[in-house]
Amino acid sequence: MTTLIAQLSGEHPALAYSELQSILHILGVTSTIERPHSRLALFNANMDEGAQLVSRAAYVKMVAECVLSAPLSDVCAKGDPRWSDLLARAESFAVRAVRMGDAPISSMMAERLVGALIKRAYPHLRVNLSSPSLWVVAFITRDQVYAGPIVSRLDAKGFEERRPGRRPFRHPSAMMPRLARCMVNLARVRPGGWIIDPFAGTGSIPIEAALLGYNLVAIELKSWIARGCLRNLKHFGLENSTQVICGDATRPPLRGRVDAAVTDPPYGRSTQLGGRELHELYLETFEALVNLLPKGGRVVTALPKERFAPEILSYVGLKIIETHPIRVHSGLTRIVCVGAT
Ligand SMILES: C[S@@+](CC[C@H](N)C(=O)[O-])C[C@H]1O[C@@H](n2cnc3c(N)ncnc32)[C@H](O)[C@@H]1O
Repeated sequence: MTTLIAQLSGEHPALAYSELQSILHILGVTSTIERPHSRLALFNANMDEGAQLVSRAAYVKMVAECVLSAPLSDVCAKGDPRWSDLLARAESFAVRAVRMGDAPISSMMAERLVGALIKRAYPHLRVNLSSPSLWVVAFITRDQVYAGPIVSRLDAKGFEERRPGRRPFRHPSAMMPRLARCMVNLARVRPGGWIIDPFAGTGSIPIEAALLGYNLVAIELKSWIARGCLRNLKHFGLENSTQVICGDATRPPLRGRVDAAVTDPPYGRSTQLGGRELHELYLETFEALVNLLPKGGRVVTALPKERFAPEILSYVGLKIIETHPIRVHSGLTRIVCVGAT
């Protein structure tokens, strides 16, 4: 077991922290988590679990082994990196510093200080700034330094390739893949479990969930959008893990149970669907979902902030676990809500 440090996205630090907690839960990591800064989390896990955390996450940018955790004043004076397998096996290294907020020293200064300490503790290592065999990261807060070899970094390119505009079937209401991925993680479903998205649209949530190895039921009212959803899933080779059903979210045509629901319901101001008002559609759908879930099963949903309070989940008997307001663009704020049966 190693002490690992995760860098959380500055875009939504609170959501990122919840995502990290959820993924560690899914991976069965029971360590306590310290949060020395809004964008840093320290926990104990093995390297493989650290790498899996990053490969699943949307808002966890990087995980590193934390071999040095010391007050900035101590690092300037002496410092004492712990022994690390990764450093002991490496031939060369380079340090990249990340300043968090109002850190009092420059990145260049931090890189030099931490580089000198590592070199003293591991004299066999060469410094190679252009192509080191190992990258070390140093997070510098106002008064503390956390540093160690990088275990894994987020693959931002993958999310970029799945942006709504780059899929064969497009619709303006599509959700960005990183938010969809994060919402799937917040559902805390064990690998291989079943997730339902009753308002599937172009398939943003089913795509991210299928990539994480889940089985999906994707329901969409409009047949042309349901066909588009299937087309998008096929584009990424994910059609086998998802049943796309053209149907009504309030009457999911399922016999068995699913482990969780993750969804992004319609939110337009004037939306009236099938003769129902929007709030009726929400209540009827959440009620139907509650009947499909086991005890403790989660509903993760985005709600339009100006129209619905998270309490709408409690009207159908769900316990509200957490809520996160997300600014989608200047005119639109959504609340990501997590409820459980
Ligand atoms: C906000 S969009 C979902 C966007 C989706 N997350 C994506 O990334 O493409 C809501 C979707 O719910 C669908 N919808 C509306 N009423 C529905 C109902 N009663 N049952 C199932 N789907 C419905 C709409 O056609 C729309 O595609």
